[in-house]
Amino acid sequence: MSNVSRSVESDVEKPRIAVLGMGHVGLPTALGLAELGWEVLGADSNPETIATLKSGRSWFYEPGLEPLLKKHLETGSFTPTEDVDGAVAAAMILFVCVGTPQSENGKADLAQVETVARTVARNLNGYKLIVEKSTVPAVTAHWVKRTITRYARIAARAEGNSQAIPRFDVASSPEFLQEGRAVENFFKPDRVVIGVDSHVARELLESIYRPLNCPLVVTDLTTAELIKHAANAFLSTKISFINMVGDMCEAVGADVANVARGIGLDARIGTSFLNAGIGFGGYCFPKDLRAFAYLGEEHGVDCGLLREVERINQRRIAVFLRKIRKAVWILQGKTIGVLGLAFKPGTDDIREAPALRIVDALLKEGASVRLYDPEAMPNARQLLPEKAERVTYCQTAYDACAGAHALLLLTEWDEFRRLDLRRAHDLMEVPVLVDGRGVFDPATARKAGFEYQAMGRDSVGHHVEAVAEAKPSDSTERLPATGVSLAI
Ligand code: UGA
Repeated sequence: MSNVSRSVESDVEKPRIAVLGMGHVGLPTALGLAELGWEVLGADSNPETIATLKSGRSWFYEPGLEPLLKKHLETGSFTPTEDVDGAVAAAMILFVCVGTPQSENGKADLAQVETVARTVARNLNGYKLIVEKSTVPAVTAHWVKRTITRYARIAARAEGNSQAIPRFDVASSPEFLQEGRAVENFFKPDRVVIGVDSHVARELLESIYRPLNCPLVVTDLTTAELIKHAANAFLSTKISFINMVGDMCEAVGADVANVARGIGLDARIGTSFLNAGIGFGGYCFPKDLRAFAYLGEEHGVDCGLLREVERINQRRIAVFLRKIRKAVWILQGKTIGVLGLAFKPGTDDIREAPALRIVDALLKEGASVRLYDPEAMPNARQLLPEKAERVTYCQTAYDACAGAHALLLLTEWDEFRRLDLRRAHDLMEVPVLVDGRGVFDPATARKAGFEYQAMGRDSVGHHVEAVAEAKPSDSTERLPATGVSLAI
């Protein structure tokens, strides 16, 4: 056992952890670690974010997060701070959870990661383990190492210190949290990936993750980085694949929901991430897919598959708009009720939300919109302010239906699954329902009086009804060996 890990397990039994970046990954990670019994500093250079956290509120909606925040502010296990340098100096283990946005060409912009590396360099006052949690392209960890070494040496020289700089390790432990399920995902991960190149780093990270009782995948640094991009790219591919199949289903009169179930029950395929609809959005999939393709192309790898996944996803909006036009014909002057603005349920995040692209297109075509989302309306208002007669934010889902010529389902919140379709129908001017997420059962929607359209299952309701209505008649033959009726 190394000196550092020996000291970790003896006198300094629990080294302090600093989580750098209090965003959708950083905050759940920090609070999860606090719940596991660590003393955690939550650092972010944005004073407003820190002030909000100190008051016991999260600056974004995430189920289960605020109770944890309140709990650990009280226990003192979690301390928010805008003093990033101070947090780095005070902690031994640093989780890097800063943003890695995309630059113009799709490449990941790692400026914030470099800033963290330089902050570590000037506060390298003893052994530190720097853990990348942000999604970063392969070989970022090597750059982080070089940057810390370079700037720590410069800082030491400036102070007239000719001794060797303190030892540090860089590790990669990519995050797989899903927005809307981040707390649940933290405590029940399918696996934890640890990319390390030292025993100390491995021991420290294993001691953190051991209580989670999940498979640990221990790799080298670059492999761990690649696993994260590959996971997001694969999930995006599944979604675009089923969306392409959905288009085929529509063309030939099949039901994509049943195709998804039929293929998904094959354990090699799996049922999740096969919901056809208006496509994927959010801060992660679109940007990570582009960054992964960019990385591959930079290294001469043909990433045509990933590019096509993105193209299919972008075309979803046009496919959906065609469906709306087919249902209502002229959009100019029509009122459209919209249920759901967030990029997915369980979050107030509207970044790259397909719903917003659809609303934007409707407005451009001269329609008015009545919008409702259980959580995302404050964020949506900032991007798309209320405008008399054109853009109305509603108090309830039913309010969004009032006087509408069509109702669109764009985010599959549970609240919408429980919608009283008869009541919604009676409130509308024209009962057209276009379901962008395949939430409603076509037969139920039609029974409630709706003209119902969905992605990849348009003609299905009619087929199902046709089958249901085909009762055995007088002219029924029995299949001799089976007793099954054949209506002719
Ligand atoms: C995604 C990954 O699922 C996480 O594992 C990862 O940690 C995270 O990105 C990240 O890199 O930070 P997230 O973006 O929160 O998580 O949301 P997902 O649940 O993956 O959904 C992404 C998008 O795909 C949403 O717009 C959702 O509506 C869409 N989707 C998902 C579908 O259209 N169909 C599906 O079957 C599943």
